[in-house]
Amino acid sequence: MKKTVTVFKGDGIGPEITDCVLEILQAAGAELDYEIYNVGEAEWIKNGALIPEEAYASFDRNHVLLKSPITTPIGHGFRSLNVTLRKKYDLYANIRPAKSNIAVETPFHDVDMVIFRENTEDLYVGVEAQIDENTVHATKIITRKASTRIIRDAFEYAKAHGRKKVTCVHKANILKMSDGLFLSIFNEIAKEYPEIEHNDKIIDNTCMQMVMNPNQFDIIVTPNLYGDLLSDLASGLIGGLGLLPSSNLGTDYAMFEAVHGSAPDIAGQHIANPTAFLWSACMMLEHLDQRECAAKIRKAVDAVLEEGTCLTPDLHGTATTEMYRDAIIQKLN
Ligand code: NAI
Ligand code: MG
Repeated sequence: MKKTVTVFKGDGIGPEITDCVLEILQAAGAELDYEIYNVGEAEWIKNGALIPEEAYASFDRNHVLLKSPITTPIGHGFRSLNVTLRKKYDLYANIRPAKSNIAVETPFHDVDMVIFRENTEDLYVGVEAQIDENTVHATKIITRKASTRIIRDAFEYAKAHGRKKVTCVHKANILKMSDGLFLSIFNEIAKEYPEIEHNDKIIDNTCMQMVMNPNQFDIIVTPNLYGDLLSDLASGLIGGLGLLPSSNLGTDYAMFEAVHGSAPDIAGQHIANPTAFLWSACMMLEHLDQRECAAKIRKAVDAVLEEGTCLTPDLHGTATTEMYRDAIIQKLN
């Protein structure tokens, strides 16, 4: 039976890459129906709401959301929509796989790591207070509940996918209580998985090690802020933001999106790389147990990347988004 999923067409390159991905899903025979909504800054300017009520209602109903990037308007009163969605639907696990592809020229050829970023707390609770004219305090929150579930998910994922090692990234040497709690829960849970190697690293050292020797990393589990930074760093190792997909999973809801933003600098030029968003759609298909369809798409993308003759400008090619899309569709058959 076909599954209905909610689709948010966001801002900037969002609409272009959404159209492209939906066409590839269609061509690959995904068993999906779509409820598609315009959301984001453009929608807010037009209708006064970043996410219209009916778009929320659709996600409430379908429990699965394919979301393209949204521009966060700058200014007071705007909380990032992404932060809002993650909080509202308790999408606590942000999973970001970064894997080298031989087609893409980078100094590293065998990066294959998965970052588990806690998605609901840390400094991203957005609690800031003006103490006086010259002082602002920001609140960092780490709880046993949120830390336990993301750390456990990281070990369970390692077990399910035959991964060898889980690394906890933190700054517990300075943030002794908050990151200290995260690290101590990590060490407790690690004992339950004796077959999986575990270690921990301080965030600054991790940044250095990641660019010196990224192959040492397998699964990383980390609080929200470090996860945000490390995943962009990881995308740099594999050839850029156009290649990093993600899933945001909670107990009842799941949202799939590229790690990159709305790229206003290249919007409307038909040169956006849709791969990160397409791989996010593949993660969605796997979540929905349409594994064969996901594998078919992944194989087609690999073939096009490997051939290297039809790549978007971020990968040093000259193809438009649409040419790249057509090349993938051709490989599906
Ligand atoms: P960005 O990720 O949109 O762009 C950074 C750079 O990477 C730009 O030069 C852009 O052209 C390039 N780039 C990004 N995705 C690409 C793709 N698929 N193909 C080719 N090149 C690509 O980050 P930026 O510029 O900091 O943010 C722009 C807007 O996006 C902001 O309003 C920000 O708040 C929002 N944003 C939204 C996210 C989301 O909805 N998940 C995530 C990150 C940022
Ligand atoms: Mg980020």
